[in-house]
Amino acid sequence: MPNRLRTDRILFGADYNPEQWTPAQGYEDESVWREDVRLMRAAGVNVATVGVFSWVALQPDEHTFTFGWLDRVIDLLHENGVRVCLATGTAAQPAWLSAAYPDVLPVDEDGIRNGHGQCQNYCPTSPDFRRLSRGLARRLAERYDGHPALLLWHVSNEYYGGTGDGRGACHCDRCAARFRGWLRARYGCLDGLNRRWGTSFWSHTYTDWAQIAPPSPCGEGRMQGLALDYRRFVSAMYLECYEGEASVLRASTPDIPITTNMMGAYKPLDYAAWAPHIDIISWDSYPFPGQHPSILAFGHDVMRGLKGGQSFLLMEQAPSQTQWQPYNPLKRPGVMRLQSLQAVARGADAIMYFQWRQSRGSFEKYHGAIVSHAGTPETRVFGEVAALGAELAGLGEGILGGRLPARVALIFSWPNWWNVEFQPGPSSAIDYPDEARRYYRALWERNVAVDVVSPDRDLAGYDLVVAPLLNMVSAEQGAAIERYVESGGTFLATYFSGVVDEDDRAWLGGYPGPLRRALGIWVEEFDPLTPETRNTVVASAGGPLPAGTYACDRWCDLLRLEGATALATYGEDFYAGRPAITEHRFGRGRALYVATRPEQALVNALVGRLLDDAGVAAPLDAPAGVEVTRREAAGRAYTFVLNHNDLPAHVALPAPMRDLLTGATHAGTLETPARGVSILTP
Ligand code: GLA
Ligand code: ZN
Repeated sequence: MPNRLRTDRILFGADYNPEQWTPAQGYEDESVWREDVRLMRAAGVNVATVGVFSWVALQPDEHTFTFGWLDRVIDLLHENGVRVCLATGTAAQPAWLSAAYPDVLPVDEDGIRNGHGQCQNYCPTSPDFRRLSRGLARRLAERYDGHPALLLWHVSNEYYGGTGDGRGACHCDRCAARFRGWLRARYGCLDGLNRRWGTSFWSHTYTDWAQIAPPSPCGEGRMQGLALDYRRFVSAMYLECYEGEASVLRASTPDIPITTNMMGAYKPLDYAAWAPHIDIISWDSYPFPGQHPSILAFGHDVMRGLKGGQSFLLMEQAPSQTQWQPYNPLKRPGVMRLQSLQAVARGADAIMYFQWRQSRGSFEKYHGAIVSHAGTPETRVFGEVAALGAELAGLGEGILGGRLPARVALIFSWPNWWNVEFQPGPSSAIDYPDEARRYYRALWERNVAVDVVSPDRDLAGYDLVVAPLLNMVSAEQGAAIERYVESGGTFLATYFSGVVDEDDRAWLGGYPGPLRRALGIWVEEFDPLTPETRNTVVASAGGPLPAGTYACDRWCDLLRLEGATALATYGEDFYAGRPAITEHRFGRGRALYVATRPEQALVNALVGRLLDDAGVAAPLDAPAGVEVTRREAAGRAYTFVLNHNDLPAHVALPAPMRDLLTGATHAGTLETPARGVSILTP
């Protein structure tokens, strides 16, 4: 697998949709394209993602292909020093395709077939969709094989997989049949499936495979094993679509890496299962206005973790505003630069935008672009983009491929996410990524590098492993965590963890199931709190946590100590005085349990103490709101300082360091302006 790009500088560019600016669209000639490449050069652009939604422009009917315009676009880009990230164009099928093969259109859970339109609006098991999308990918690969501009393949675009709550994925008869085949392969026999899904409940035992249908609110909407497996199946079917295209690209152009743009912590698709099939991870980052910078950082780290810390590409971000959020404020001056360099600081080798030129019509005409409807480079946004392009060009190739060595891991699992948020019960307030982000934030505030890993990853080598809300733990995963603690690691788990196995069967004999021995506790009961109810966590003076009474909400586990000691206790209700945070020495390591959802200050204090104990420190001490990371490439360390505050900040430097962005050397103290960024080298 080619997992390095042939580039000697950080990639900088945008989605480029030249088919919107042709004579066929009412433009006199291709002069808009010539203006585009002129402006691309002015902005320091060295890559363009072309063809993302070009299917009908490349294949106006099933038997006709029209590559001429794309040939000219790619040649023009090449002549102007712009490499091509070539999309297969298959995220939105043409109307002719839906008309010729109506069963390409997906069917919802109520049995109603979608009409044509939108994008990602196809059934992922459709043989016609797969055949035709693969066919287009194969022709593109054959045609542009050997073209010197071809840098990277971009398969489809933002694979869908349904909505976060598990709806929206296709429920057609063919998907149902494929699902049954998938289940047969997974469980072998019907008895096995009945056992693992617990179907004897409500007399739901299946006596024939044909009785199994996808979950539906008006059918089998309550069976957790079924719902969980359907999500696994849907993710696997989209992955098959990806693989169908990727395999033909690989066959023609084995040296060109392949990606598909992901969406960070995106619930419907198990990206961890996808990652081995993707050469280079790329993703689209669209923060909501006012979002805390640790949330963006978490997205980058989830993506970087997918391939064991290999650098990734920021495939899309808005140059300034989007149009699809309820309110779409401008990114304030300096914010786009700060967020872009934050991506580089966390492992990105490419900074790219959606999109180059603002579309004239339809759904995205108000979505910001580098070149606006005004068509001139004399805009704030173009100016900021071009300035960043020049800065990135000035960095050369040093940072490319750089890694962020981490001594801390945070476990993140898609099947756990799907399962723990499945309703009904025991609490509607369960929010898995929120819990992950709260512990991540504590690490972020300390500027400590974190690897976000799957629960199946080998944990040896980490000083601290944090596993927020890991409700679903298999026997193997539990044993691996136990070995990790026994051999000297520090492990932290939070409430409602170790409750079910990988099939959602409750662990018998006491929670937290396979984590019980290592944690040294037994969770006898859990108390999901209503939105009006709170409790408190009391840390007493002289203990390891800063003494005080902290708010907690949403959930309280009631536990008994089995070797662990209480670091803090509940303050209220009938379980006042019982343990809320515990610590257990186990083997050469220790395991901690946070039985509730305490306010962020306590999470920060607890995580901070564990980092201190392990001697894990930030690359530089920095004030609040100043993010610091260290990327290492070819034996060289690059220390990023990102000031997310609206005021200047000061960072003490233990030794003089040179800022690669300005060329200035700083000794003693670095003063970083509001939203300022420095990349320091010794
Ligand atoms: C997604 C898509 C793009 C565009 C942007 C708009 O990321 O990939 O084609 O629609 O959203 O923000
Ligand atoms: Zn289907």
